[in-house]
Amino acid sequence: MKKTKVLFVCLGNICRSPMAHGYFRHLLEDNKKQSQFEIDSAGTGDWHIGKPPDSRAIQMMKQQGIDISDLRARTFDPQDAKHYDYILAMDDDNVAQLKQKTNLEDHHKIQLFLQYADNSKDQPCQVPDPYFGADKGFERVFTMIENASKGFLSQVRND
Ligand code: 4NP
Repeated sequence: MKKTKVLFVCLGNICRSPMAHGYFRHLLEDNKKQSQFEIDSAGTGDWHIGKPPDSRAIQMMKQQGIDISDLRARTFDPQDAKHYDYILAMDDDNVAQLKQKTNLEDHHKIQLFLQYADNSKDQPCQVPDPYFGADKGFERVFTMIENASKGFLSQVRND
């Protein structure tokens, strides 16, 4: 059966998108659906290439029993737009950057991740960048990605 290929994207690929990547990986394991998906994450910026997630992101996930310390940052590659079926961006800036780097025919793959959350109609669908803020920001990010991940999984694949 064909795998659904999903790429999570933020700015630095050390906070939001590795948290989404790690949470979704965990959710797939819990639901025995690893074989149905190929997933990765990337950043539109290139400052942190090869680095593990921010220690606050690792800690936040660890509190939830999820280890993301193996993940390493990479930059979005325009070829990703050909390979992946879904390119799930954390905010409108990510969407704008991704659209600049890709061909029009692939723009339908670039979507706001939070549009899959069950309360998406009540909020602007932006995962706020927690990098320059306090630890509370990471808790908020976790709740948002948890909600959107469950929504995404149930909406894109029910087999
Ligand atoms: P992220 O957070 O996009 O959620 O990974 C950021 C991490 C680093 C920077 C910006 C955002 N930075 O400017 O270095």
